[in-house]
Amino acid sequence: MTTAAPAPKAGLEGVVAGDTSICNVEQDALIYRGYEIHDLADNASFEEVAYLLLEGDKPTAAQLKFFKDELIANRALPPQVIDYLKTVKPMVIAGSAVPMDILRTAVSLLGNLDKECQDISAEANLRKAKRLTAKIPTIIGHMQNVIDGQEIVAPDTGGDANLGHAANMLYLMSGKKPDAEAEKVVDVSLTLYAEHDYNASTFASRVIAGTLSDMHGAVTGAIAALKGPLHGGANEAAMDMLREIMKDLDGKIEKPAVEQWMRKAFEEKRKLMGFGHRVYKNGDHRAPILHKLGRAAAEKRGAEFVKWFELGEIVQQIMLDEKSIHPNVDFPCGMTYFALGIPIPQYTPIFVAARITGWAAHIMEQHANNRLIRPRANYVGPDLRKWNG
Ligand code: CMC
Repeated sequence: MTTAAPAPKAGLEGVVAGDTSICNVEQDALIYRGYEIHDLADNASFEEVAYLLLEGDKPTAAQLKFFKDELIANRALPPQVIDYLKTVKPMVIAGSAVPMDILRTAVSLLGNLDKECQDISAEANLRKAKRLTAKIPTIIGHMQNVIDGQEIVAPDTGGDANLGHAANMLYLMSGKKPDAEAEKVVDVSLTLYAEHDYNASTFASRVIAGTLSDMHGAVTGAIAALKGPLHGGANEAAMDMLREIMKDLDGKIEKPAVEQWMRKAFEEKRKLMGFGHRVYKNGDHRAPILHKLGRAAAEKRGAEFVKWFELGEIVQQIMLDEKSIHPNVDFPCGMTYFALGIPIPQYTPIFVAARITGWAAHIMEQHANNRLIRPRANYVGPDLRKWNG
């Protein structure tokens, strides 16, 4: 006789798995701690959003200054992590590691080196959350320098103390200070990516935290979950897909040729990357915000970047007409980061640089009111049988 409740829909669709005061994802709104996403994208910097998520409320001017200074002071990486990052290029060339894997290992190593790693008190968790938020962009930057065969930018300080979080990450990746528009676009993208209730990676982090395991371990697991193309990996996969379509078009962006490509994809039951969502059925609130900013940045940078938006808009229209499926935030993200010259394999690591704040807030919320997360499985295996019979 089973003691379990009936199985929910595959993928736990529609299941409400717990309470949270961090974020509300609804068909008609996305809300972080009471603030609606358009309001935040228009009026708050990523640092302010990070503070809101980690501390619970909007910072005062003095609190914000203190928080920004804390982030700047914690940007530099321990030498052991820099030494590890210096070894990654052959793994990238061999294809056994992509930047998301390298970031995952570097975060795990940061845990080994963090004196408070085993301390899961609220105070230690908050300090670790800030350290991780500060250091993840530095890992991304140094890793990219190594992949590019360049000197590591600012290894002693993790950047330029005059640059904000988004601008400093771009600077660390390339050695060039971004213009104000690139900084703004990436800053808003970080706000849009920062939090999304019980998405797969956040839920994974809460399951890990729910065993009373530590923050670095929970974040390491969350990075592994975010990597997949059905989740955060979709921003890279969406751009790869557009490049695949463009190649087939032979330079002419015309709707009939795009329709032909998509018809074939539908026949092959291919999932188009950057489209669809488990919760949003009438569109992802974040996608139009990023699309508008990304297109404006592409227009300033020239036709070779605008063409990706022209193609993307045709793909979007066909998806809507044929399947009634809307783009999610990862679709405009691909085209936007491409217009800013960001290497495609770093799109999902940049998602991590934002979502670390949401994950950390959830890990702290889980630890603050913990009960082990341990669902049941509906057994569908063989009937009872005898080993020696
Ligand atoms: N391309 C083509 N068809 C799709 C797509 C898509 N991207 N998404 C959903 N569908 C179809 C699906 O084939 C199914 O059709 P049918 O009923 O005929 O079998 C129907 O729409 C319902 O889809 P589903 O598979 O039940 O949806 P789901 O809730 O299980 O999956 C999803 C959600 C996001 C995994 C899925 O839409 C998908 O694979 N999208 C592409 C990957 C992607 O963009 N992921 C990013 C998610 S949002 C942001 C983030 O987490 O980073």
